[in-house]
Amino acid sequence: MTDIQNGFQVHAARGPFNAAFFSMMGPYLERNLRRHKRRVFAGLPRTVVELGSGVGANVRYLQPGSTLIAIEPNLPMHRRLRTAAERHGVRLDLRASVAEQTGLPGGSADSVISSLVLCTVADPAGVLAEVRRILRPGGTFRFVEHVAAPAGTVTRAFQRGLRRPWAWTFEGCSCERDLAGLVRAAGFARVDLEPYRLHTAFIPFNTQIAGVAHA
Ligand SMILES: C[S@@+](CC[C@H](N)C(=O)[O-])C[C@H]1O[C@@H](n2cnc3c(N)ncnc32)[C@H](O)[C@@H]1O
Repeated sequence: MTDIQNGFQVHAARGPFNAAFFSMMGPYLERNLRRHKRRVFAGLPRTVVELGSGVGANVRYLQPGSTLIAIEPNLPMHRRLRTAAERHGVRLDLRASVAEQTGLPGGSADSVISSLVLCTVADPAGVLAEVRRILRPGGTFRFVEHVAAPAGTVTRAFQRGLRRPWAWTFEGCSCERDLAGLVRAAGFARVDLEPYRLHTAFIPFNTQIAGVAHA
């Protein structure tokens, strides 16, 4: 059984499964991503918009007393997200809207962040246009995302071969997106972006980018 939440399909089984999975795997993912997150999430302002906050992996990068405007349409994530925000002393303004249409006023955000989200949204180019719309001039979009491996590599073959079960399990996630190309084409004033490779057991997920795009 599924429920539609602002255009996002909340799955009765896979929603709770993914909430539990990302809670359980959080420490492992964090160990692998910490170095890149510390770099791009350094010095975040007191109010931050986050796309697809999940169960709150990134609240630790906000200063205690900060406000997180969390755009998270997947209701089964909400309880753990609230708990994580409370634990880190972050005020949570939780919105069950989608990143394609946040409902936030134009030019209202100093900083928007995402991790492992542009792989899953229905329309990544639409999300980047929405990020540009809500950022004030000079504001930043900071991201840590997994991307398609170069053509002809073993990792790329895994990404192709596993695409269907991967997307089914992880609620639409694709490991085949050229997100660096999309961010560069989105019309930001400047994009600083670093590709890197992880060495986790989740092979399709290992090719990644982290960066900052300036509005
Ligand atoms: C792989 S999880 C990552 C969660 C978290 N950012 C992290 O790093 O652990 C992807 C998240 O994106 C959310 N998501 C999927 N489609 C979305 C959309 N259109 N708008 C906003 N969030 C979305 C999912 O509900 C899920 O919480």
